[in-house]
Amino acid sequence: MTEGTGKTVVITGAASGIGQAASLRLLQAGWTVFGLDLALGRLAETANGFGAWQMRFRPVACDVADAAAVAGAFAQVGASLNALVCCAGVLRTGLLESMPIEDFDLVLNTNLRGTFLCAQQALPRLRAAATPDDPARVVLLSSIAALRPKIVSGAYAASKAAVSQLCRVMAAEWAPSGVLVNALAPGTVDTPMIHAVASDTKGYRPSGVSPIGRIARPDDVVDVMMFLLSDAARYVTGTTIPVDGGTQAAFVPPGSR
Ligand SMILES: NC(=O)c1ccc[n+]([C@@H]2O[C@H](COP(=O)([O-])OP(=O)(O)OC[C@H]3O[C@@H](n4cnc5c(N)ncnc54)[C@H](O)[C@@H]3O)[C@@H](O)[C@H]2O)c1
Repeated sequence: MTEGTGKTVVITGAASGIGQAASLRLLQAGWTVFGLDLALGRLAETANGFGAWQMRFRPVACDVADAAAVAGAFAQVGASLNALVCCAGVLRTGLLESMPIEDFDLVLNTNLRGTFLCAQQALPRLRAAATPDDPARVVLLSSIAALRPKIVSGAYAASKAAVSQLCRVMAAEWAPSGVLVNALAPGTVDTPMIHAVASDTKGYRPSGVSPIGRIARPDDVVDVMMFLLSDAARYVTGTTIPVDGGTQAAFVPPGSR
């Protein structure tokens, strides 16, 4: 068992996919992880699945779109925080002309408002932990959809483009506080979010296999996240880094390989 580093991170969406993989990796690296998620049952299963690593895992039930719930969750974190990783997100598919307003609101409220609310609650705590040699970090989950949107997922693309813009402005506003803010833009990652749309009836298709020849595993994304949380990224802020195996680099016409 790794010695604790004394560093703390809040990870939203910790009960599944990328947030769950990030939680385990940071626990293994010695961090204390406050794992926020809506799904209390899956959060408990996640903690059990961490085995001995769960000693430094603090599960917190929280709807990131609910301002009062977010304030309550961060009150449990204490006055100082080294990093925030915002993975909580939802994908709802559908053509814009017929998308239910409730679905549009859910996507924007979770992906954009949730990110904003968590970041706002985190800021004073991140500022308290930041030092000139060791800036605090925020890592947001944008998406390839922010850089190259697709049909049948317009609300999702809009929410992720907005996350990338929030990231840029937060980075510039918070740099004087010693807080670095970056976003990751994965292509298709093998997680429950993608399993749920595998046989989508509304015509949505994930970006799928990249030019590298496979879809991403959560750890492909977490590796880049670990770089952004490391000393090696001390001069990196305000960026959205694609982690997409080259998917949006160039269009590969169907049947050309
Ligand atoms: N999987 C992909 O292909 C992919 C690609 C690009 C970006 N992303 C982004 O990465 C992030 C993580 O995605 P994932 O694939 O791990 O998804 P996932 O569905 O496996 O996990 C998302 C987690 O967020 C939680 N969540 C949803 N709404 C919440 C809310 N209101 N409050 C708190 N928790 C909430 C869910 O309960 C779930 O545990 C998301 O922001 C997603 O948009 C995913």
